[in-house]
Amino acid sequence: MEEFKENKQVKVPTHVSIIMDGNGRWAKLRGKERVFGHSNGVESVRASVEAAVENGVRYLSLFAFSEENWGRPADEVNTLMGLMLKAIADEVDSLKKQRVRFRVLGDLSRLEPSLVKAIHDAEVYTVPDSGEDPVLDLIIFLSYSGKWDILQAAKKLAFDYMSDPAGLEKVDASEFASRLVTAGIPDPDLIIRTSGESRISNYLLWQAAYSELLFVDTLWPDFRKEDFRSALEEYSKRDRRYGKVK
Ligand code: IPE
Ligand code: IPE
Ligand code: MG
Repeated sequence: MEEFKENKQVKVPTHVSIIMDGNGRWAKLRGKERVFGHSNGVESVRASVEAAVENGVRYLSLFAFSEENWGRPADEVNTLMGLMLKAIADEVDSLKKQRVRFRVLGDLSRLEPSLVKAIHDAEVYTVPDSGEDPVLDLIIFLSYSGKWDILQAAKKLAFDYMSDPAGLEKVDASEFASRLVTAGIPDPDLIIRTSGESRISNYLLWQAAYSELLFVDTLWPDFRKEDFRSALEEYSKRDRRYGKVK
């Protein structure tokens, strides 16, 4: 077996996160509309899920649609939401079979009720039967931004301490993080961004404090298992010091 988990020498990240970028450019290179790139990106998601499972990654999160992406033309936004609905319908049985737990995080209040319902149903359907652990948590960040997440956590905290303002004194980073939408999910060990852009674009701002960042030139619709594996290989060479001396 050549999978990473078989090699005890290699560090496998617990949580890999991907900023899936470059769909529009991929389509443009082929003389097609941007949405052609988005629909072809679904295959890359499938490949990444399989690669994560094969290599022993426990959490895979994908940035699918940012708060700022609401500012794109309505046609593109509608196509992206339609693709999400279709992908859920097409993939949910296969995810369940692979024991992958599906979750969506973000400001769902901005989504169409039919999409919110499909998301909720898929989340419930893919919760493993009692006693079982999922093989992989697949987390989709949809209508998400890092600043929005921190702000909603701060509002929750303010609300929770309304009648005990003195108690705020004792609030530490972990108590704050328990109000982020990612509560209970370990911070990403590795964040990959495709398409050659070297920025975070308001993604996991709090949670990325000590993530290893990897920027690759591959456009998202071209991303396949080999690309996932080489990212893991690169990660295994990194020396994480967390501000300390080794
Ligand atoms: C990523 O591809 C998908 C989303 C942000 C929804 P883009 O649509 O950003 O593609 P480029 O960056 O314009 O090529
Ligand atoms: C980041 O990509 C958001 C997602 C991948 C969902 P964008 O294409 O929106 O980011 P910018 O505009 O290049 O920073
Ligand atoms: Mg982009």
